[in-house]
Amino acid sequence: MVERLQPAPDCVELVMEFPDDEAPKPGQFYMLSTGDGRDTYLPRPLSFYRTFSPRRMSFLFRVVGPGTQALAALKPRDRLQAMGPLGRGFPVPDQPIRAVLVGGGVGVPPLWSLGRALLERGAKVTALIGARTRSGLLGQAELQALGLEVRTATDDGTRGHRGPVTELLPGLDADQVFACGPEPMLRAVQAFAASRPLPDTYLALEAAMACGYGVCLGCAVERAKPDPELGPYGTYARVCREGPVFRWDEVKF
Ligand SMILES: Cc1cc2nc3c(=O)[nH]c(=O)nc-3n(C[C@H](O)[C@H](O)[C@H](O)COP(=O)(O)OP(=O)(O)OC[C@H]3O[C@@H](n4cnc5c(N)ncnc54)[C@H](O)[C@@H]3O)c2cc1C
Ligand code: FES
Repeated sequence: MVERLQPAPDCVELVMEFPDDEAPKPGQFYMLSTGDGRDTYLPRPLSFYRTFSPRRMSFLFRVVGPGTQALAALKPRDRLQAMGPLGRGFPVPDQPIRAVLVGGGVGVPPLWSLGRALLERGAKVTALIGARTRSGLLGQAELQALGLEVRTATDDGTRGHRGPVTELLPGLDADQVFACGPEPMLRAVQAFAASRPLPDTYLALEAAMACGYGVCLGCAVERAKPDPELGPYGTYARVCREGPVFRWDEVKF
């Protein structure tokens, strides 16, 4: 780990140097642990956030329990174990679409690389970021530095729109919506996609994960429509393999 930043009182950004340069796709994640017995037995899933070079990238996370506490306690030059990139990321269209990104709290990290990829393809991109209060708004300056238009919302009205960030959606023209954040926010985006309709709306889900690569089945979510080709396994999808990014109508959560 090369640098530790603290963008909010309970959030840490770790900049890491990787030995290889397998470029992750926006929305993919890594399983991270200190690997030295200081943390939990199992690694923790985290989306990558900013990429600075093919081998240098960062992770931005809220400290909520033993796994994230141990990662947050790392110091520059400490080593950590990372497995990835894992999972299915956001599909990035080649056409210059009008895209709206919606991030709630620590749902912002996967939107940075997605925003950059969309801008490179000529898209017009607006990012909506929300939090309970203004100190929880993450990534605003970093998304603006990419060239995205950023609008904010806070539950208590201390910055931007007062209320859920998804209340900003109806005022925007969008061909596609991409969202990552807490479940109530994802449900509101799902309902918005259904009401327009906006078929190309994608949601990045979170789930408790033990393995991260499809074998423990601990991260299963119900598919909206069972896949008969998969027999008894067609009722569920694994967030770590078939996700974490799903089209809005693929899963029930
Ligand atoms: C694909 C994927 C990508 C993720 N990317 C990110 C990311 O970029 N940044 C980030 O901060 N988190 C991210 N998460 C969530 C992160 O994995 C968990 O916060 C982490 O595993 C918690 O581990 P812990 O040992 O610190 O806490 P645990 O002991 O596992 O949990 C401690 C307590 O916090 C609660 N909790 C767990 N997760 C959260 C949460 N996200 N917010 C609030 N409370 C929680 C638990 O229910 C429990 O009560 C991602 C999860 C997935 C599946
Ligand atoms: S975390 Fe093990 S199957 Fe998904």
